[in-house]
Amino acid sequence: MLLTCQPGFEAMFARELTELHRGVVTEKGPGWILGELDANHSAFAHLTLVDPVEIRADSVNGLAGQVADFFLTSLRGERIEAAWPSYWQGPAELVGLGRRIGAVASAFDELLRKKLSRVARLAQPDLPRGRGRWRGLFVFFVDFNRAYAAREVVAHGQRRMADDELAPSRSYLKIEEAFQILGREPQPGETVCDLGAAPGGWSYSAAKRGAQVIALDNGPLKGGALNHPLIEHRCSDAFGFRPSAGETFDWLFCDLVEEPHHVLRHIVEPWLTQRWCRRFVVNLKFGRVDAIALLAEIRAPDSPVTRLAPTTLFRHLYHDREEFTLMGEVGP
Ligand SMILES: C[S@@+](CC[C@H](N)C(=O)[O-])C[C@H]1O[C@@H](n2cnc3c(N)ncnc32)[C@H](O)[C@@H]1O
Repeated sequence: MLLTCQPGFEAMFARELTELHRGVVTEKGPGWILGELDANHSAFAHLTLVDPVEIRADSVNGLAGQVADFFLTSLRGERIEAAWPSYWQGPAELVGLGRRIGAVASAFDELLRKKLSRVARLAQPDLPRGRGRWRGLFVFFVDFNRAYAAREVVAHGQRRMADDELAPSRSYLKIEEAFQILGREPQPGETVCDLGAAPGGWSYSAAKRGAQVIALDNGPLKGGALNHPLIEHRCSDAFGFRPSAGETFDWLFCDLVEEPHHVLRHIVEPWLTQRWCRRFVVNLKFGRVDAIALLAEIRAPDSPVTRLAPTTLFRHLYHDREEFTLMGEVGP
């Protein structure tokens, strides 16, 4: 398998796979890992290239020719009638690699047009949104003269999101990304409690979908969240907040810059145990703790998350830094 993650996090990703999932890592570089690995429950995995084939050549045409041979050989017996992803990637850390990838992809496209113009016309340069297993062509460059090509990929859902000029913070992109991974987003009339809300990116994201938000933070709301008719700003402590008797929020959002165990014990556990919310998006900052030990604790069979929300997804988002995001639903 070849697996991708956010560049700079491959060492942590390798630890997650070897320590928590008994994987074997054979090689790694910025944003990728090679080995015998199962990333289905990984937080750090972005893409899994299934059964990749190594491509090596020292010219653009050589690389394109080999990818074309691989693709055409693998097509035998397969009819392509619908749009398919032709997705080419590589670490941006290698200066100039992006241009080379673009050149190889164009040369491949030309070769394919000559042989199978109808199939070439159906190629799409992007992945479908959300999580899933997709068939197409996926090429990941680990260096200028070396790439891996696969016909199948498992997408764990992370992707760069579009900004909104009214969004008051970069954090807005995290909650937008979380919604598309979860495949669910706040609906008009749903209720949201946003703990650690300022300057209001997450609250704004929910309010623009028509949800009613209580935003807790001593700091001020800004941009599109300031004076939004669907956002009620309360200057109070997130740890002291309790819903009214019998009240259940449709969503809990929590993006506190706090020690993650403290958030788990004093926010996640009571909110899930008392069923104060139906769904949740919680961001945990692992800058000062061992992220892999933290993941192991949250996934342990007796942890509140496992017991009360067993389908919770854990992701190191495209827009996350030293933090990961829990997204889930409180079980019946
Ligand atoms: C990373 S920011 C949240 C960004 C926000 N999600 C957004 O989209 O703009 C963390 C916020 O948590 C707030 N915070 C930290 N401890 C808090 C507490 N005990 N109660 C309420 N807010 C708290 C901080 O004031 C800060 O505004």
